[in-house]
Amino acid sequence: MINDKYLILVNWENPCRPVKRDALIPVSGVLLESEAAENLKNLLISINAAEKITAVSGWRSVTEQRRIWDDSVKENGMDFTRKYVAAPRHSEHHTGLAVDLALKKDRIDFICPDFPYEGICQEFRQNAPMYGFVERYPENKRHITKIFHEPWHFRYVGRKHALIMTTENLTLEEYLNAL
Ligand code: DAL
Ligand code: ZN
Repeated sequence: MINDKYLILVNWENPCRPVKRDALIPVSGVLLESEAAENLKNLLISINAAEKITAVSGWRSVTEQRRIWDDSVKENGMDFTRKYVAAPRHSEHHTGLAVDLALKKDRIDFICPDFPYEGICQEFRQNAPMYGFVERYPENKRHITKIFHEPWHFRYVGRKHALIMTTENLTLEEYLNAL
């Protein structure tokens, strides 16, 4: 199971090579791996959220991640950037399996979009595991993920794994260790 392509671990100690752009498909204005894209689309439809929730960021190239990192260092400083932005090649956005979501409104913060624990966003969160997505950076796990709490960042791992990880309250790091 640990070789399941949907369980690929990309984090501070595991860099990756981004998947090729032509292997991705568009959903909600971003590019994602096909199974992840299909499930995100179906989940948004199932809770009638296509007009209320938008994807802010999906697949990213290394160049794009580097630009996001550099811009954030300039605008927010190094401390903030280390908390919320993965170093180039260390972002799971390179895999096409991660998506940042936001409540649709006029102004959306690109690095820390608003995705509250109530209303339509919470409905999305509660249904996400059924469609294979987990909240990847929960509040009390930053000693493991090395990333601060990101209520907006969801990772596709497939339904079977997502249901277990959510029920057992496991990050991807912990789940892979357990496997
Ligand atoms: N915000 C997440 C950690 C990333 O940059 O991949
Ligand atoms: Zn993200």
